[in-house]
Amino acid sequence: MKKVKVGIVGMGVPSRGGGKNFIDIFREEGRAEVIAVCDIIEGRAKQAAKEKNIPYWFKDYEKMLKLKELDLVVVRTDDKNHAPISLASLDSGRDVLVEKPMAIKMEELEAMVKKVEQTKRILMVNYILRYNPIYQLVKRHADKRMFGKIFYIQREYLHNLDKESILTGTWRAKKDEFHTPICGGGCHAIDTFRWILEDEAEEVFAYGTKMAYSKEDYSFPDSIVALIKFKKGAIGKIHASFGCILKYCADLQVMGTEGSFVGNKFYYSTQEEEALSINLDYPGHPFQPLVKDLLDSVIARKSPPIDVYDGANASSIAFAIMESLNTKKPVKPKVFLRKI
Ligand SMILES: NC(=O)c1ccc[n+]([C@@H]2O[C@H](COP(=O)([O-])OP(=O)(O)OC[C@H]3O[C@@H](n4cnc5c(N)ncnc54)[C@H](O)[C@@H]3O)[C@@H](O)[C@H]2O)c1
Repeated sequence: MKKVKVGIVGMGVPSRGGGKNFIDIFREEGRAEVIAVCDIIEGRAKQAAKEKNIPYWFKDYEKMLKLKELDLVVVRTDDKNHAPISLASLDSGRDVLVEKPMAIKMEELEAMVKKVEQTKRILMVNYILRYNPIYQLVKRHADKRMFGKIFYIQREYLHNLDKESILTGTWRAKKDEFHTPICGGGCHAIDTFRWILEDEAEEVFAYGTKMAYSKEDYSFPDSIVALIKFKKGAIGKIHASFGCILKYCADLQVMGTEGSFVGNKFYYSTQEEEALSINLDYPGHPFQPLVKDLLDSVIARKSPPIDVYDGANASSIAFAIMESLNTKKPVKPKVFLRKI
């Protein structure tokens, strides 16, 4: 079988790897091969090509898109470049795996949805936490209706980017990237809610503060608490913060009429001794199963499990939360209805 030929845009800062980390994942998967790498910082593309033995490297993604044999583009740049690179890739007839957030403006979400509908290309969004084993277990319990009717869902996105040296002085701190704790990180939580509840948001409301990270170069609140009312009645709460003195935390709570998931335990009664503790590792970002699902979709020409509508609706809710912070009023997010 012919291998899917992949080009990756955005190699990442050398200490973290970013897009470069995908090269081995595609190689190990077996049904794809990375034939091109691209980074606006030429040295990063060159170095990745040399180290991983990749035939082509580019500084300019438009030149990479001229490679005839290319099938699939992975977009792993800063947030504001996700939409333009994805749209150009779809226009050139390629499938796309784009990082979250899919885009940073409503017009970009609209353009991407339209483009996928017109071109029928595959676009998958890297909401990797759907592949986390703990979340998958909770989702299975929800699908089997073991929680009964879910009335409350809560998730944290607590990630001290500054302590990891990836905020101050980087693209994440720039105003035009709109990398707010909700749009840049909390979008993971929004995606988790939509996925578990299989529902869309009707209305959101939020408070934010800028007390934890006081540096001038970041112009957004560093901590945001958002409430989401879902159409079928459930309520969601997110605390997204870039400033907590804490290790990365993505804890999830689900409460239903028949059971709850709190503190990594399943409760099907109110007795603590009857709670079911789970003993699973927390490999937060298991990229291998996501890449497998992506290639299944690309090869079979079927919709990916996290498609353009998922990416658009998660970001649309995040934008509504930011609007609520500004207007101090509840906001009804735009919902993108699945047409394909
Ligand atoms: N899914 C997840 O869980 C997850 C985790 C971390 C980061 N991310 C997302 O991945 C993206 C990258 O984050 P990162 O931490 O790897 O950032 P990074 O700064 O380490 O890497 C981004 C890379 O893109 C390159 N780049 C920027 N503009 C470019 C362009 N026009 N053409 C080619 N290359 C370009 C930069 O030079 C850099 O090497 C962000 O959107 C971030 O939100 C997602």
